[in-house]
Amino acid sequence: MMDRVLEPEIMDDPEQARIYAAADFSEENALFVDQFLLCAGELDDAHIVDLGCGPADIPIRLAKRRDTVRVTGIDASPPMIAIARQAVERAGLNERIQLCCQRFQEVILPEPADGVISNSLVHHVRNPLQFWYAVKRMAKPGSPVLVMDLLRPATAEAAREIVERYTANEPKRLQEDFYRSLLAAFTEDEVAAHLAELNLTRLLVDVVDDRHWIVSGRL
Ligand SMILES: C[S@@+](CC[C@H](N)C(=O)[O-])C[C@H]1O[C@@H](n2cnc3c(N)ncnc32)[C@H](O)[C@@H]1O
Repeated sequence: MMDRVLEPEIMDDPEQARIYAAADFSEENALFVDQFLLCAGELDDAHIVDLGCGPADIPIRLAKRRDTVRVTGIDASPPMIAIARQAVERAGLNERIQLCCQRFQEVILPEPADGVISNSLVHHVRNPLQFWYAVKRMAKPGSPVLVMDLLRPATAEAAREIVERYTANEPKRLQEDFYRSLLAAFTEDEVAAHLAELNLTRLLVDVVDDRHWIVSGRL
């Protein structure tokens, strides 16, 4: 198994943010929201935090599915948050989706949220325990959690094959970012060890396809 190769934490290059936001993750994001709702149940008047919300496609989908839910999307990239603001505005969801341009490690919520979601952020973080610590401190005990991220392939060649299989028709920049993200991602065993280290043993990790793991459950 190849070692993890870190990639830059924040996606703050405007061109990188633009290309990422233009890519079509609709199927993946819709499934992510379905899965969260399955684990969370009713969610009346709930406040959900999305760590590394990017262009806010997931917060928007979630707010559209549950009309009393409020979402706080946190992302430290100014260009990504600018794109997210426009998308939230277009969706007419300003009142229920709040965006915060800050590193999640530094965010202090006025009160703990009712749930935490995060898609494709963990592989950006140098120390993954900071991420799981944030999940734990940002929501009330018993809150639903859904985190999805990439799975590190065994070799660089296997990573190249995955990039070719899923993004052959995408812009070169997206393909290169995807490759670097696969190399920076964690294995299932590493994620299980991180959860154990922070005593988050009620959350379970599962490998759901050839390039993703999901952690779900209640805090
Ligand atoms: C691959 S994107 C995923 C965006 C979104 N969750 C989605 O599913 O489309 C990862 C995002 O995490 C953000 N990010 C990385 N490290 C961060 C940190 N420490 N705090 C807040 N955001 C961070 C990046 O700027 C980027 O927008």
